[in-house]
Formats: sequence, structure tokens, C-alpha cells
Amino acid sequence: MSNIKTANNESIAEAAKVIQAGGLVGLPTETVYGLAANALDGKAVARIFEAKGRPSFNPLIIHVPDAQSAGELVERNAWAEAAAESFWPGPLTLILPRRAGCAVSDLAGAGLPTLAVRVPDHKVAQALLKACGVPLAAPSANVSGSLSPTTPLHVAESLGDQVDLILAAGPCKIGLESTVLDLSGEAPVVLRPGGVTAEELSEALGVEVAYAHSIDETAPKSPGMLLKHYAPQTPLRLDAIDLNPGEALLAFGSERFMGVKGAGAAKDLPAEMRRNLSETGDLYEAAANLFAMIKELDQAGAAAIAVMNIPQTGLGVAINDRLQRAAEKD
Ligand code: TXA
Ligand code: MG
Repeated sequence: MSNIKTANNESIAEAAKVIQAGGLVGLPTETVYGLAANALDGKAVARIFEAKGRPSFNPLIIHVPDAQSAGELVERNAWAEAAAESFWPGPLTLILPRRAGCAVSDLAGAGLPTLAVRVPDHKVAQALLKACGVPLAAPSANVSGSLSPTTPLHVAESLGDQVDLILAAGPCKIGLESTVLDLSGEAPVVLRPGGVTAEELSEALGVEVAYAHSIDETAPKSPGMLLKHYAPQTPLRLDAIDLNPGEALLAFGSERFMGVKGAGAAKDLPAEMRRNLSETGDLYEAAANLFAMIKELDQAGAAAIAVMNIPQTGLGVAINDRLQRAAEKD
């Protein structure tokens, strides 16, 4: 059974506490209902992926109360200023470079150097953002592969008790996800069509704004496929049971019995050559640490990164998907 409450001051205050405690809230916006968590808390973000049952880590949209708050997370440029001026609050998501020191969890951004930010045009979303005081990572509140929810009941039917509290505020006005506009490259590109059209964007930005699939006829048309994934420079070796000399270790669970062939124990490697996704074998903690630790080990100058086996259950499926892609360098 889901916990659904009519959105009012009291339930919004309760939802803010759920967010601050690392929980998940069904959040009404003008586009679709979102599944929201504290974007700064990697373990809370890991719960989003678990609840959606996504077999992979896609980057999530980070919701903020206003353009100024967005500017604290990402580097804004002249196009972003114009787009924000014309369409925020509203159904437009902007992809921009992450600011140095941006505190949003690496998992929420799938390890990418860019971040998707949006200012929702909905009283309840705005009230929750203000009440909890943190940016909210929120994909649509449905299990992976099903339709996006436009009523609180859709959220309850899809996610059940995986969501701690659903704030009910009737059907969504737009009922279609936000337009995703990439402003991090040489020209603005719409990665996902939505409520705001490319024509409207061209007008506001004063430049031609194209849909991603119309740029290259041979390119894949699914926005998900246009997404570049973060890939380390150092090769990854999966399901390692020991280390070759010169390799760094990405451990999961106890690393007590990991040895370096002919050269002692892994625990005696220099600190920059060793990371542990979760010493206790907690998959939420492992997901939260995944991108940051791969990046750190990528800096160590190792011949390869040996990764211990991660169970193929729950969030382990998405973690393994990400590791396999990094290992294959696609
Ligand atoms: O209307 C909406 O946008 C809803 C409500 C809840 O705000 N949210 C939503 O989120 O649809 P989600 O996670 O289902 O969609 C996120 C989209 C995906 O297509 C993803 O690939 C893209 O944004 N995206 C996110 N970060 C990106 C990045 N750094 N680069 C390129 N695309 C990105
Ligand atoms: Mg979705």
C-alpha cells in the first residue's frame, strides 16, 4: 500500500523530512509526477534506481527552485540565461557543465561532466524544494519501461510502497515530460522533445535550435542512445579474484583475501591504488560510490583497474551494466 497524502502545508513539511532522511517522495510537477530524492545524497539517489528497477544508471534531472539556484550547480552561458529567462519556471530541462565542486552526487549525474537542471512550474514542487532546502533528483515516478505517471494513483500503482510518501495534487497540467535542451556543446540541441518546441527555443535564443535526430540522419533516434557515457581511460578487468602487479583494486565487500600475484596483499597497495565500493557489501553504498571511485582510480596511473565480483541482484544489475560498458569502452 502506498502512503498518499493530499499536498498541504503539513504533508509538504512531512515530505521535506522524508527527503532529508534519505527517503523518496512522489512529487507533482506540471509535466509528470517525479520520484524525488535529495540530489546531494548518493544513497538516496541509489534508492531511486532501485525503485524504478532501471537496469542501468541514466543521468537524472536535478530540480531547483529558481535559476539562481541552478547557477550554483552548473556553469551558465548566454543561451542558458536566455532560455531560463523565457521558459523557467517551466517544462524545459537544460544540460550544462557541472560547476567545479558541485555537490550533486556523481550517481545522479551518472558520472558525466554535465548536469540536467530544471525549475518546475508547480506550487507543490516549489514548496517542497523550499521546505527541504536541497536540490531534488527526480525521474518520472514509474517503474522502468512503463508510461510516465500523470496522477498520484499512477505513481501508487507503479511503485507501491517503494515510495515513502506521494504528495497528491491532481492530474499534471502538461502530462508530457520536459524538453531536454543540451547547451553544453557548440550548438544548442534538443535531446528530448517536450512541451517547449525547437521553434520556440530558436526564437528565444536567437540561434537555430535543432532536434538531435535531425542533425545526422544516420544517428540513433532514441535520446537515451545519444547520451555519451562516462568512460575511464584505464582499462577495467571485471570479476577479479586477485591482482596483477601494477593494477589498482576496486573492491566490494571484504578485500582481506585479495592478493597481488607474487607481490603480497592488496591491502598493502598505496592508498591511491585502492578503493572499496562498500566494505559491508551494501549495494546502495556501492552505487553511491561507483562513479567517484572509478574516477579516482582512473587518476592513479594503474595498468588496469581490477574490479571484484558484484552480485547480479537488485542494484547490482545496474552497477554491473555500468562496469561492463566501461570495460568494453563503448
Ligand atoms: O518532465 C520531466 O522532465 C520529468 C519531471 C519529473 O521533471 N522528469 C523526467 O526525468 O522525465 P527522467 O529522468 O525520466 O528523464 C531525464 C532525461 C533523460 O532523457 C536523460 O537521458 C536526460 O534527461 N539527461 C539527464 N542528464 C543528462 C545529461 N547530463 N546529458 C544528456 N542527457 C541527460
Ligand atoms: Mg521517464
